[in-house]
Amino acid sequence: MDGTYLIRTFGCQMNEHDSERIAGLLMADGMRAVDEVESARVIVLNTCAIRENADNKLYGNLGHLKPAKLANPELRIVVSGCLAQKDQGEIQRRAPWVDVVVGTHALPHLLELLRRSERDGPQMDVREHTETFPSALPAVRLDAFRAWVSISPGCDNACTFCIVPLVRGPQRSRSVGDILAEVRGLAARGVVEVTLLGQNVNTYGRDVSDAGSSRTPLFAELLRQVGRVDGIRRVRFTSPHPHDFTPDVIDAMAETPAVCEHIHFPLQSGSDDVLRRMRRSYRRERYLGWLERIREAIPAIAVSTDIIVGFPGESDLDFSQTLEAVDAARFDSAYMFQYSPRPGTRAASFDEQVPKPVVQERFDRLVELQERISTEAGAALVGETVEVLVEGGDRKGRSTRSRTRTNRIVHLADRLDPGSFHEARIVAAAAHHLTGELVPAPAASTS
Ligand code: 5AD
Ligand code: SF4
Repeated sequence: MDGTYLIRTFGCQMNEHDSERIAGLLMADGMRAVDEVESARVIVLNTCAIRENADNKLYGNLGHLKPAKLANPELRIVVSGCLAQKDQGEIQRRAPWVDVVVGTHALPHLLELLRRSERDGPQMDVREHTETFPSALPAVRLDAFRAWVSISPGCDNACTFCIVPLVRGPQRSRSVGDILAEVRGLAARGVVEVTLLGQNVNTYGRDVSDAGSSRTPLFAELLRQVGRVDGIRRVRFTSPHPHDFTPDVIDAMAETPAVCEHIHFPLQSGSDDVLRRMRRSYRRERYLGWLERIREAIPAIAVSTDIIVGFPGESDLDFSQTLEAVDAARFDSAYMFQYSPRPGTRAASFDEQVPKPVVQERFDRLVELQERISTEAGAALVGETVEVLVEGGDRKGRSTRSRTRTNRIVHLADRLDPGSFHEARIVAAAAHHLTGELVPAPAASTS
C-alpha cells in the first residue's frame, strides 16, 4: 500500500512494542511514518484497556478523527490492541468510521485487513488465539540503541481486578533460542540495552521446553544468557510477580553484570485482606521479606512498584496498612492507580465499591507519602557519580535526558548523542528526576 501512516500508542511497554511491529508491517509494505493527522493515509490507535480512562480516551480520539474521515474517505482508521480485543464490534457500532478493528492476536493480519477494508468496507479480526508471535514480524524500533524483547506475552494469573488475561490470553513463552537470536541480532545492529517483557516474567518457560531436552527453561537462566550477549550492556525486565519470585532470580541479577540494578515489583496493596481478595497469593510480610533479600544481595538496587487504591471493600484500616507498607518498603518510585472496575473481571461485581471521594482522598495521601520518599531517595544520590545512558534531547533541545542503571532520569546541560554512555555527578534531586553534571572521561595517556 502506498502512502503514510501515523500510530498513536496508549498503555504499557507491551503495547509500545506492538506498535513497533505495526510500524514494521506498514513500512515493509512501502509506507512511511508522518507526525500529522492531516498527512496520514492510515491512522492506527493502539489501545489499552487496563483502566476506564483508557476507554474514554479511545472514544474521545475517535470522535476527533471523524471530521478527518468525512473530509477524506481514503483515510483508513485502525483500532488495535487491548481495547480492540475487549470491545470488538462495539467500536464500529459507536464509531462506524473505523475501518479496521484488529485484536491482540490478529496483528499479523493487519495488512490483509486494510486491503479488504478498501474493497469490502469495515473489517474486524478479534480471534482468540495467536498463531504467530509478534516477534516474528518486522519491527521499526523507536530507538536505535535500546529495544524491547517480548519473552512471554499473556498471563495465567487471575488477579481479580485485571483485564489483561481476558484481552491478552494465556501466557505463551518463546524459546530461549528464539529470544537469544533476537537479542544477538539487535546487538549486531548497535542496540546496547534490552528490556525483557512479559506479564509475569517469573513464570517464563512454564509452557515450553528447552530445545533438545524436556527441561523447562527458567527466567534466571534466561537473564544470565541474555546478559552474556556481546554488546548488550544493560538488561532490564518487567514485571516479576511477588508470588512466583524465586531466589535464583536474585542470584542471576547479582551475578550478571549487565542486569541493571532495578526491579519493578508490584505490591498492589499493603493489606493482606485486600491481597487475598485481589487473588494475589503473597502477603505483606512475605513481600517485604523479598525486598530485604533483594537489597541484601544487590545493595544499589532501586525498587519501583504498582499500587491500587480503593479496591472494593478497602477499609480505612486496609488503606493504612498500604501506607505502612509503602513507608516500610521505601520504594524509589511507584505507579499509583485508583481502582477502576473492568468489565468481565471478578472484582467488578464485588459489593462495596469504595466511593470516589474516599478513593481520591486516600490516593492523594498515598501520592504525597510516596513523593516524599522518592525525593528523599533521590537526594541520597546527590554527590554520587553514576553511569548514564543518553536517551535524547528535551523537547526544546536545551538539555539531554539520560538514565541511570537504577532507572532514574538524569537531566544534563550538555548535548550528547542518544545511545552514548557517560559518567555523571548528581547535583540535585526532585521526586521524578535528577540533575547531573558530566564527569569528563580521564584524559588518554600520551606516553
Ligand atoms: N484498576 C486500577 N489499576 C489497575 N491495574 C490493573 N488493573 C487495574 C484496575 N482495574 C494496575 C495494576 C497493575 C498495573 C499495570 O495497572 O497496579 O500492576
Ligand atoms: Fe494482571 Fe495479575 Fe496478570 Fe499482572 S499478574 S497481568 S496484574 S492478572
